Amino acid sequence: MRISVIGCGYLGAVHASAMAELGHDVVGIDVDPAKIAALAAGRPPFFEPGLAEILASATATGRLRFSADIADAADAEVHFLAVGTPQAADSNAADLRFVDAAFEAVVPHLAEGALIVGKSTVPVGTAGRLAGRLAELAPHASLVWNPEFLREGYAVRDTLEPDRLVYGVGDDHAASVLDQVYRAAIEAGTPRIVTDYATAELVKVAANAFLATKISFINAMSEIADATGADVTALADAIGHDARIGRRFLNAGVGFGGGCLPKDIRAFTARAEELGRGEALAFLREVDAINLRQRQRAVDLAVAALDGSVHRKRIAVLGVTFKPESDDVRDSPALDVAVQLKGLGADVIATDPEGIDNARARHPQLDYVTSTREALRGADLVVLVTEWREYRALDPVETARLVAGRRIIDGRNVLDADAWRAAGWEYRGIGRP
Ligand code: UDX
Repeated sequence: MRISVIGCGYLGAVHASAMAELGHDVVGIDVDPAKIAALAAGRPPFFEPGLAEILASATATGRLRFSADIADAADAEVHFLAVGTPQAADSNAADLRFVDAAFEAVVPHLAEGALIVGKSTVPVGTAGRLAGRLAELAPHASLVWNPEFLREGYAVRDTLEPDRLVYGVGDDHAASVLDQVYRAAIEAGTPRIVTDYATAELVKVAANAFLATKISFINAMSEIADATGADVTALADAIGHDARIGRRFLNAGVGFGGGCLPKDIRAFTARAEELGRGEALAFLREVDAINLRQRQRAVDLAVAALDGSVHRKRIAVLGVTFKPESDDVRDSPALDVAVQLKGLGADVIATDPEGIDNARARHPQLDYVTSTREALRGADLVVLVTEWREYRALDPVETARLVAGRRIIDGRNVLDADAWRAAGWEYRGIGRP
């Protein structure tokens, strides 16, 4: 099929590449010429495992092109809207400026029977509003809301092999067109839920709210574990065996960050308030508060480990990205902890396999090194805040030879506490005795 993807940020660049990988003829559109140039040359503007390969092969064959001119989308049968919906500057609500602009830009170029497919995460009610506008401006075209559930680090796989497809539709024809786009996944048996606009929009934010709640739940338990000498990791293992609960997303630590979960739960709360149902989602404020408290707890542990003051102490911060396999530092708990420690007067040396450039652009006041060994050398305290494989694999005996003080805070509860203690380390996890 002929497809356009409007917005070539994280979601759009992955989606465009994946659609081309499925054999479609794709044009990616973005207003940023630098991004377009990088993508057209087959270079992803961010780190995502597996993306460089499919982007390079699709651009080389000509199945995937990029353009800054929306008119180049005119012959597409399906137009995906994949622009960002960031948190508004002055409130918790989502800023819909880019969605509205992309929609208005594409409408004059819609071919007869074209389909607009919204992928961006939007406040419930947005699709209905856009469908109303489309009926006025281009009644021959239709709109589907088709939320995206990709995880950074697994974005290519999640797009090519989604665990479900959700279509919010206004008419049946739209669903059959989208079925052709996703034929491979549908033939592979991917569950497909066809519903109304509002439900489709809600599926996305409800899923993210649930995941965020699950993480904050276990982090709340970790606070109680700390107060009682219990071990939150064993607790998570034990409750996770109950299939109704499940073990995934029950890892206590410095909490969730990134470009989705934090802003999505805030925007969802703001939308509920607009709808006069703020009380229904009041618990999400608590989910957010628990999450932010985790960062403070890690900082407090660092202060305690250094006997009450981090001032002029050399602290190696392992990780700046919000999670491993990503170079994304948006709302990163790891970077927040590093910045807070620096603010308390510590000499922070931060390191990360992929995130240093992005971190430096936001927080140039920190010292960054690419080598883990260099970060560790002479440190009075080590703080692990992003669980990259290379940090999980650190050997306590070897690491002890590099540092000045054998103190480690495991902000992701991923190290073997006994092994580190046996090697002479003062080990502190989050909610672990
Ligand atoms: C998330 C959703 O998972 C995805 O479905 C949606 O489309 C976009 O938002 P992503 O932002 O890539 O994806 O990150 P995710 O893997 O969900 O992790 C979010 C954060 O939660 C990370 O900071 C991670 O470290 C943290 N986390 C995750 C925990 O603290 N504990 C856990 O048990 C799991």
